[in-house]
Amino acid sequence: MLALFDSGFGGLTVLKELAKALPNYNFAYLGDNARAPYGSRSFESIYRYTLEAVCYLFSLGCPLVILACNTASAKALRTIQQKDLPLMAPNNRVLGIIRPMAEEAGNFTKTGHIGILGTEGTINSGSYLMEIAKFWPDLHVEQEACPMLVPLVENGLLNHPATEMFIREYTQKILAKEPRIDTLVLACTHYPLLQHIFAKILPKNVKIVSQTSVIAQKTLEYLAKHPEIDSRIGKNLEKSGEIRFLTTDSAEFFERGANSFWGNPIKAKNVFLH
Ligand code: DGL
Repeated sequence: MLALFDSGFGGLTVLKELAKALPNYNFAYLGDNARAPYGSRSFESIYRYTLEAVCYLFSLGCPLVILACNTASAKALRTIQQKDLPLMAPNNRVLGIIRPMAEEAGNFTKTGHIGILGTEGTINSGSYLMEIAKFWPDLHVEQEACPMLVPLVENGLLNHPATEMFIREYTQKILAKEPRIDTLVLACTHYPLLQHIFAKILPKNVKIVSQTSVIAQKTLEYLAKHPEIDSRIGKNLEKSGEIRFLTTDSAEFFERGANSFWGNPIKAKNVFLH
C-alpha cells in the first residue's frame, strides 16, 4: 500500500487526486483526527505524533509514507528522514509535500511575487521560504498564517459567512504586504475545500494554486524514478486498487466528517497510535 498521513481530513484532497492518477494502486490513509488540528501545536508534539503514525503505517507493510499535511511536512519530516528512518526502516521512504510544491512555485507567476497561505506551524517554520529559495532564488515570497481556516473546515463550515470573513481578512493582509502578488499558494491540504470562496473574493489577476495536482504529478515522477519502492507497493492489475481509511478518532466520526472531502460514503477503521 501507498500510505498518506494527515492530521485529520485534509489529506483526503491529496488522496483523491493521487487515487485518480494511480487507479490500480492500493492506498492506506491515516488521519490523526483525535489530535487534530496540528496547526498551532509545538514542534515536539507534531514530531512525536507524526513519527507514531509513520511507524504504524510501516507496520502495515507500506514502504512509502507521504505526509499529506504541510504542518507535519514542515515540522517533522526532516527529523524523521535524517534521524529515525536510517535506524527504523532504512529501505522505506517518507516524503513531504512542501518540497514538490516549492519546485513548481515559480512556474505560476508572471510578476515574480507569490503568497503562501498556511497554518501557523507551516508559516512560522519558514519551510516554504527555505525550499522556494533553493529552486527560485529570485522569486519574492510573502506568507500569511490563517489559523482559523482548518478548524472551520474540520467543523464543516464550508459556506459559512464566518469562513468568508476570515478568508477576506487573511487575503487582504497578504495582498497589502505586497500588491504585486499574482499567485496565492494554498499551502494547507484543507484549503482546496474553500477554493470557491477564495475565487469569489480575490481580484481577477490573482491566481489560486492548490497543491493536489502538483503532488499527484510529483508522486508519479518519484515512483517512475524509484522502481525499488514502486515494486513494493501493492497493485491490483485487473481492477481498481483498494483504499483503507484509518483514523485515530472513532470510525463513525471519520465516516461522517470525510463526506465533504471525499464525496462518496466510505468505511473507516479506528486505530490506536503510541
Ligand atoms: N492539513 C494540514 C496542513 O496541510 C494542517 C491541518 C492542521 O492544522 O491540523 O497543513
